[in-house]
Amino acid sequence: MSHPPVIDLRGIVTRFDDNVVHQGVDLQVARGEVVALVGGSGSGKTALLRHVIGLTRPAEGEVRLFGEPLRAGSYAEQQARRRRFGVLFQHGALFSAMTVGQNVGFPLRELGVATEQEIRDLVALKLSMVELERANALLMPAELSGGMVKRVALARALALEPELLLLDEPTAGLDPDRSAAFVELIRSLHAQLGLTVVLVTHDIDTLAALASRVAVLADRRIVSYATLAETMLLDHPFVNRFFHGPHGQRALARIGGKD
Ligand SMILES: Nc1ncnc2c1ncn2[C@@H]1O[C@H](COP(=O)(O)OP(=O)(O)OP(=O)(O)O)[C@@H](O)[C@H]1O
Ligand SMILES: [Mg+2]
Repeated sequence: MSHPPVIDLRGIVTRFDDNVVHQGVDLQVARGEVVALVGGSGSGKTALLRHVIGLTRPAEGEVRLFGEPLRAGSYAEQQARRRRFGVLFQHGALFSAMTVGQNVGFPLRELGVATEQEIRDLVALKLSMVELERANALLMPAELSGGMVKRVALARALALEPELLLLDEPTAGLDPDRSAAFVELIRSLHAQLGLTVVLVTHDIDTLAALASRVAVLADRRIVSYATLAETMLLDHPFVNRFFHGPHGQRALARIGGKD
């Protein structure tokens, strides 16, 4: 049996006053893919993710998730769909007044179906999935390193056992070792849990290590949706800058050297 795309965007148009950010964005993400969404700063990557999760509504076009229109069905059905994805926002955004444990447990507590003991056990399980110790649950966000903040945010995104994980710049601000460790973590979670992942990244190492497909957002639409190797053959100003500039060349040489 074939599955409908996990994410299906058709003809998305987004405007902020006179600023037209998307003009006919189409993108279909199949189950189990790890899609890297790339594009220049301000090209509308975060804005697109916000449509996917229903935080904002496009001016035109259709968003379907798990084969259904985002806003189809009753409130309860929409809430049920909401539980099938987890998000790691670009600007980390842990709740600063809550402990790590309260942050990770927040989506569970919000659902209101688990007991406090069950929530504590699930929090410990999610922390172990991101390789943090149970004792870290008592720390406040201000007491964490940048890499730990990302792990906690990932644990929270995994709290409801999502089928779809959306990661907006998951490795931004991490040093190369931490970034590589985080990439490994996402890779192993993807393999274990069979997740579909969409990640926004400026980091070619992250992209090359994880992505099964690359979606290029430029000129207000998806100009290419292909494997990394195919994407690199594209003659487009963004692709030339991103992959063939000095930084991109160095990153790709490192990756090539590893195989
Ligand atoms: N709430 C908003 N109100 C007005 N303009 C907005 C709003 N959100 C985004 N924009 C504009 O939409 C465009 C796309 O923003 P977005 O944050 O999606 O870019 P991005 O591709 O995620 O960039 P970056 O790589 O820097 O994170 C920008 O021009 C931004 O100024
Ligand atoms: Mg962004």
